[in-house]
Parts: sequence; structure tokens; C-alpha cells
Amino acid sequence: MQPFKTPSKRSSKKDDSDDGSDDSLLFNSKHLYTPCTIIKSLEENTDKGSKGKGSNSKKNKKRRATVQPVGGPALVKTRDGTLYKIRDATKLIALTSPDDYVGLNDVLHMANITESSLLHALRVRYKRDTIYTSAGPILISVNPYKPIITQQGESIYSEQTMLRYRTSANFSEEEPHLFQVADRAYSAMMDSVHIVPNLEDADADRSMDSPKNHRMGSGQVLNQSIIISGESGAGKTEATKYIMKYLARITTKKNKWSSKENPPFLSPDGKAMATLEERVLSSNPLLETFGNAQTLRNDNSSRFGKYIHINFSTEKGIIMGARVSNYLLEKTRITTQIEGERNYHIFYQIFAGANPELLQELGLDVGTESFRYLGYRSSPNTESDKSNFVETMECLSNVGLATEEQNTVMGMTAAVLHIGNISFEETDNDEDHSAVITEDSRPSLQKACALLGLKESDVADAILTKLLTINGKSIKKPSTMAMAEDKRDALAKMTYSYLFLWLVKSINITLSQHETDSFARNDAKQTGFIGVLDIYGFECFDVNGYEQLLINYCNEKLQRHFNRHVFEVEQKLYASEGVDWTYITFNDNQPCLELIEGGAGLVGILNTLDDSFSGMGSSREKDVTFVSQLHKLFGSVAGTKNTNGGHDYFVTPKFGNDRQFSISHYAGEVRYTVDGFVEKNMESTSNELKDLGSTSTIPLARDVFGVPASNDDRRSSIRGFSVASQFKQSLQSLVGDLEMTQPHYIRCIKPNLKKASDLFNAGEVLKQLRYSGMMEAIRIRREGYALREDHNSFYNRFSVLLSADDLNGGMGIDQLVSVLSKRLNVSDADWQIGHSKIFLRRELSDKLERLAKLRVHRAARTLSRFGRLVASRRASVLLVTWMKFRLSMMKKYKANKASSRIAATYRMYLQVKILKSCINAVVKIQSHQRKIAAKLVARRLRDPHCGMSHRELNELLRSETNCLENAIDSQDFKRAANIEEKVYVLNRKKTL
Ligand SMILES: Nc1ncnc2c1ncn2[C@@H]1O[C@H](COP(=O)(O)OP(=O)(O)O)[C@@H](O)[C@H]1O
Ligand SMILES: [Mg+2]
Repeated sequence: MQPFKTPSKRSSKKDDSDDGSDDSLLFNSKHLYTPCTIIKSLEENTDKGSKGKGSNSKKNKKRRATVQPVGGPALVKTRDGTLYKIRDATKLIALTSPDDYVGLNDVLHMANITESSLLHALRVRYKRDTIYTSAGPILISVNPYKPIITQQGESIYSEQTMLRYRTSANFSEEEPHLFQVADRAYSAMMDSVHIVPNLEDADADRSMDSPKNHRMGSGQVLNQSIIISGESGAGKTEATKYIMKYLARITTKKNKWSSKENPPFLSPDGKAMATLEERVLSSNPLLETFGNAQTLRNDNSSRFGKYIHINFSTEKGIIMGARVSNYLLEKTRITTQIEGERNYHIFYQIFAGANPELLQELGLDVGTESFRYLGYRSSPNTESDKSNFVETMECLSNVGLATEEQNTVMGMTAAVLHIGNISFEETDNDEDHSAVITEDSRPSLQKACALLGLKESDVADAILTKLLTINGKSIKKPSTMAMAEDKRDALAKMTYSYLFLWLVKSINITLSQHETDSFARNDAKQTGFIGVLDIYGFECFDVNGYEQLLINYCNEKLQRHFNRHVFEVEQKLYASEGVDWTYITFNDNQPCLELIEGGAGLVGILNTLDDSFSGMGSSREKDVTFVSQLHKLFGSVAGTKNTNGGHDYFVTPKFGNDRQFSISHYAGEVRYTVDGFVEKNMESTSNELKDLGSTSTIPLARDVFGVPASNDDRRSSIRGFSVASQFKQSLQSLVGDLEMTQPHYIRCIKPNLKKASDLFNAGEVLKQLRYSGMMEAIRIRREGYALREDHNSFYNRFSVLLSADDLNGGMGIDQLVSVLSKRLNVSDADWQIGHSKIFLRRELSDKLERLAKLRVHRAARTLSRFGRLVASRRASVLLVTWMKFRLSMMKKYKANKASSRIAATYRMYLQVKILKSCINAVVKIQSHQRKIAAKLVARRLRDPHCGMSHRELNELLRSETNCLENAIDSQDFKRAANIEEKVYVLNRKKTL
């Protein structure tokens, strides 16, 4: 599929989303899992077919909106508006259910789980930083490539989170998490023996005391395993570390966990040791230092598989010890690395972290660019290498190594680099072209020998000659340049890989010792274990070699275990419930395993490879013999499988079958190129080199070289045995171990190839989901009875579907099933009633869910209608009462108002009455007064001198008389007449 129009801003996405034009890659396309709509079909025929009808542009538009996926190319538009041309519209998969868009915690709860809905669910969750998703019992983890902080501002791996998962009584309500898986394993182990852990001095903070620990078990310890798989960089090792941290934390008291001041524990030989929990955790950095390297896919890529077996006391719930098993350390990295990758971390850590004296002592004061095995490349002294060196030394102390021994370990590591600097030249005048060590590189040989405690001449001899046994006699044959270089590299690989194995052994010794003063640990009698497996996932590259064959073989083996577990657990459950399980099938990959490892009368690919070593010819010729032998034994018509005579899982390629063969693995077909198979399988470490180790003058170095000869049956190489047969043995033992356990699966997924955060490449993720066997697990679950539920819970949920009439026939699960069977017309195979559970097919369970939802919906509607009725009645009653109340209030108000008006009026009337009477009185008084005044006035008018005393009258009379006389005198007779009148009146008055 190619972008139809690629706007410039989108072109940057192209490398992550574009997937070429190969039809088979269509499903890997990111776009197919991005909701999109078909804009139009690009099929020529379709256009022709619609000629005439479609000439009208309006009609065309209408048609576009309802384009149905018909075969052939089509133009689609994704949600972000990008247009893409796809090759086959029928390959678009519809996301039908609303659940498909939600991103449920458990994808098995989705109504119809398909590759696309699973993928979309993971994408939705990843976008909201929920990197863990359950698929039933399996945990899918998508690498976030960034620390994830919760809304509360704490890391998703914080101590609080650990305690929350420990104390949570209901797991199904918690988000899926690594801690959930770890806790499930721990609780299952503890519960199996019906023990309630009871540590001395249990403090309140101790998370052991969880409700989950109080269940009854069978008495027999049920060991657990956590199998973490995924491709390089998917987050397996990080997950392993978090799981171990969790197990160490929940089994340790807080004060012990955080205190650095506690006096150190002493090992039996008196050495100071870290606590067992600390030692278990510090085994991780040490293994990473010596077994991890920076690769193109992962900056801290584990170049070995590991299985950590942690023992617990099932009485006390505490860690009793641990054991690490390692698988297939990548040895070619010790001598060569491709551009952009590095050798094992330890080499760079020494250069960055060791003090100048130590560097000088080790002969490393010249810098990384002087060493062939470091690619003659200068490596900057990074801060992380420097600090990791300090941590490495601390971890070496933690595993009980004294400073001197630590220096020997560093010395042996440095010796590997010095061995790498040994160069050769051909001797003059020698027909055999035998090699000698160049004078320039002699100091490197000397330094390597000094650091390993070996004799220079012995080492030179072992490298430069080959010991042959002819007719019972041993003779030495000089090596050619190529042979000498091979042997030099073999010596370096041997030294480093033995050192690695010895470190693992040392770690195991210290992890098996517990503190001498630990009463709890010494006292523990019954133990159980949890195994944590961090192992490489299925690999399919452009060119697949020997390592891929072994890795994929390992994955086939684990896949069988996984399938069997998923299937058998189902079967067991069905059997214990008395349910017929013949309805489900399982794709057994046993024939593919037999093809690889042999069995059932088959010789097997690996045995054929072992056999190919004997015989004459160069290793290249032996590779050719090997592949032709494979085609003879298992092949059929080229390019096909499953035809007459051939093995079902072996595919003969159409081209290049002289160097290639293919195996049809559970995750897909892988084509292997046999170059170097025979040599890698036999590990060209010659006997002379192997014997060298025992001659070392340094006891610890002798110890190191002696490791593979010990009884450790998990090592990856044993003298005289092929790598493949060793690997097969260790896998057998691993699977044997796993078989004794209850497994828990974690599938780690790498969301993109850029090691970038917030980038989800659907094609990459889908490939890994297929490789991890997830689809098969989901298929098994879906093909069986997807839903299983306790009778009570089922009855409670679905009895709503029974009417009152149905209940006349009785109650209980049988009645429910018989009524619904009849009503829904379903067969017996669709559901079965077990002793305690009922089992249903996905389709039927979905149907019932829908019906129950409908029923509940209807009931809810009826209820709400009834509710509304009741509410309206109540409302009307309330309203009436209220109205009555209001009316009465109004009446009362009116009455009050009227009465107060009456009272006021009455009061007014009274007042008016009083006022009136007052006014009357006043008027009366006034009139009386006026009468008196008027009388007075009248009297005055009538008699102006009334009221005058006799004396006053006399005086007035006299003054008037005088005036009269004056008037007469003045002869004013008019005035005199007036005055005379007045005097007359006055005299008269006087006489009265
Ligand atoms: N849970 C996680 N949170 C944040 N980063 C992670 C997480 N898991 C892995 N990573 C990142 O991815 C890198 C590769 O992880 P690692 O566990 O080494 O992969 P693997 O072991 O599968 O090859 C780590 O170095 C780290 O940067
Ligand atoms: Mg790893």
C-alpha cells in the first residue's frame, strides 16, 4: 500500500508506515489498523460497469459515501485526512464493536477479538500510557521507551504501587501490571500450601499481610514460573528486574529493605555479605555487565537467555535463595561486532571506570582504539560506563569476591583483549604456509599470559599447532594463518565464556547462602519456587543463521509448553467440571519440534547437523553436505510443504536450496542459510586450548577454566559435544522445570524499530503478536468456551431473561438453560453446565449479554416510566397540597388584611369620633369663646367704657371734660359736640 497523495508533513512518517508493494505485507500496514473510510474503488471494471449511471457528478458523490469493500484497489482516507491507495479493499477489516475502540483492560473481554481489534486496543492503550494489557492469563507489555508517571506523580514501579498490588483484594479492578503477575504467582505458591505467612516482628507496613494470603491450599507446593518473551529490545530484561524487585520487596520488611546502616551479614567463611534480597537483585547488573551489549536494536541487549529460580519458604513467605541458569551466550560478539554495535559492556566499563594504576596493571592504558576486539574504534568514556563500573565492583563484592579476586576477574577480561591483539605472519620458505606470531604482537601475548597465569610458550604452541592423532600416535601439525587466527579467537571466546559461566556459578553459590544469623531462613522447612525466564523471542531476519535456528527451536519448545498449558488448563477445567471438551482442538507443534530435535523415528535437523561434522572436507563443504542431507531426509517438491514424502513442516525453497532450507514454524516460515552451521555447532575450541586452563598459576583462573567440567548441566558447551545437543539438553531441563510449575506468561512487544517513545508501528506490533503465539492462544480460548462463570453468578446475571411463566417450571440454572436453549434454538455444543461453572461459546455469550442488556434496558425503561408516574403523582399530590396551602395562606392573608383594615377603620372611626367630639368641643368652646368675645365686643360696641372702674371713668370724664372745654374754648364745636356726647355717656355711665 502506498500513500496516494503524500503531503510533505506526512512524508516523515513514511518509513514507519509504508510497507512496500508486496501483497503479503498488506496486513502489516499501519493504515489498515487506523480507522479509515473507502473513498472510491480504483478498479477499472467498476468504473466501466457503472458507465452511464455514474456520469452525473451528484450521483457519483452519493455513491462514494456508501462504497462497499469490493475486491481490487481502492482509495481510502484515514482519520487524519491522509489518502492511501490500497491494493485490495476486501482486506480492510472492520472494527464493529464499540469495545474495539475503548482499549479494555482484558482483550478477551472484547466481543469479537480479531487481529485488528487486538492491535487497535493495544494502540489505544499505548497512546494513553497504559502499556500493560491482559489477554486472559497472558500479560502483553508494550515497551514505552520512557518512564511512565501516574496522575499522582509517581512511577508505575514505585514502592507505593508495589504495596497497592500486594494489598489489593480485587485484582480484576486493578490495571494489568507486571506486579499483578508477580503477585499472582507468589500468592498462588503461598496459597497452595495453605500457610498464612507469619514473619517475626511483622510491622504494619509489611505488605505480606494481605487478605490474599488467607486462603486454603492443597498442602502440596505449587511452584510457579513467569515466562517473559519477546524480541530484542521489547523490555524482557526490564520486566524481569521489576518482577524480582517486587518479589524482593514484598518479602522484606521495610526497615531491612531501606537501611544501609544495618551490620552486614556474614557468610559461613566469615566474609561480609549483602542481604539475600540485595544479592538476588545485584545478580542482575552483574549478568548485564558481562552478558549485555549495545546493539542496533537495544542499547542494553542481553546476549544470553536466563532463567532465575527464586526459592521461598512457604511457611514464612521469605526468599530462601536463588539460582541463575543461562543459555547460549553470543560468542561471536567477543571477537567481532558490526558497525554501530559494541562488545560486552564490561570492556568499556573498565576503560571508563578503572583507576590509572589498575589500567596500567591490566595493560589497558592505551585506550579502546588499540584493540582489535573493540573494532579499533575509540569509545568515549561515558558517565554511565563509569558509574556502572563502580556498580559492577560493588556487585562483585556482593557475590562475595575479595578485591584481589575482583582484580583477577578484570585481568581475565583484559586478557581477552590482549589475546585479540596477537597477530600472525607466514614463515618464510615454508611450503605449509605455517603461521608465526609477529614480533610486534608478542607483548600482547605476554600480557595476556601474565594476566591468565599461563606460560607464553604453551599458549603459542596451542595456537600455532594442531594436535592430530594418527594410528594412535599424536603428532603436531603447524597451523596456517587462518587456522591460527581462528584458534586465537577461539581462545578469547573460550576465556570470556568460561569467565561468564564462572561468574554465574559464583552468583549461584552466593545466592544459595543465607545469612547465618537469620533465624527465619534457617528455620524454614518447606520451600517453593518462582522461576523467571527472560528468553529471546522468535526471530526471522532477511538472513537467518545457526543462532536463529536454535532461538526458534527454543521458541517452538516454549510455544508447545504454552499451547499445551493453555489447552491443557482448559481441558483440565472442562474435565474437572464434567464438561465434554471434544469440541475444541489445538494446533500441536510437536511434529515441528520432532523435525528439529528428532524423535518419533525421525533423525531431526540438529542430529543431522551433528552427524555432518564427521567426514572430510572444509567446514563450507560440510555445510553443503548438511543441507543436501536435510533435503534428502525431509524435503519434497521445491517451494511446497506437506506433499508426498516430505515432512509437513520442512519446506524446500524454490531457489538457493543448495545453501538454504525453510522450516514452517508456528509463527511463520523461516528460511535458514546454512553458512557456518557445522563449525558453529562444534565450537572449534580445540583440546589443546581447553587443556591450557588447568596449567594456570592463578588459582582463580584455574577455577574459571574448570567450570565447564563441573556438574553444571546448564552450560552451553561441553567438550566433545555439539552446541546444539547441549542446548537441547538445557532446554529439555528447562522445560522439565517449567512443567513442574504453574506458568504465567508475559509477552513483551517492541512498538517501533527506532527505540522511540510514543511511536506505535502497527505492522511491527502485529508481527510480534503473531510470533509470540498470541493469536494461537486467543484462538484456543475463542474456539473453546470463551465464557465460564459460576452457576450463581450466571443465574443472577441472566435470570432476568426468564418471565414469570418460565419460572413456573422451577428455578435454578437447569431451568434457565433449558428455557433459553429452546427459545434461542442453540445446540448442546454451544453451552455446557459443569459441576460449579457454566461454559459458553463466545457467540452465545455475546447473544445472552445482548439479550440481558436489552432486558435490563427494557426493565430500566419500565422502571423509569413507573418512576416518572410515581413522581408525577407525588408531584401532583404535592402540588395540590401546596396549592391548598397557598390558598389557605392567601385566605389567611386576605382575612388578616381585611381584619387589620377593619381594625384600622374602626380605630380610625373611634379616632374620628374622638376627633369629631374634640372638634365639636373645640368648636363649642370656640363659639362660646367667640360668643363671649362677641358679647364683649358687642358690649364694647354698645358701651365703649364698660369694664372701666369708677376711678377710670372719673379720670376719663375729667379728661373729656377738659377736652370739651378746650374744644369750646377753641370753638371747635363739632368736636365739642362729639365730646359732649361722650361726656354725657360717661356721666350717665357714672350714675348707673
Ligand atoms: N517498562 C519500561 N519502562 C521504560 N522503558 C523501558 C521499559 N522496558 C524497557 N524499556 C526500555 O527499553 C530498553 C530495552 O529493554 P530490555 O528489557 O533490555 O529489552 P530486552 O531484554 O527485551 O531486549 C531498555 O533499556 C529501556 O530503555
Ligand atoms: Mg534483555
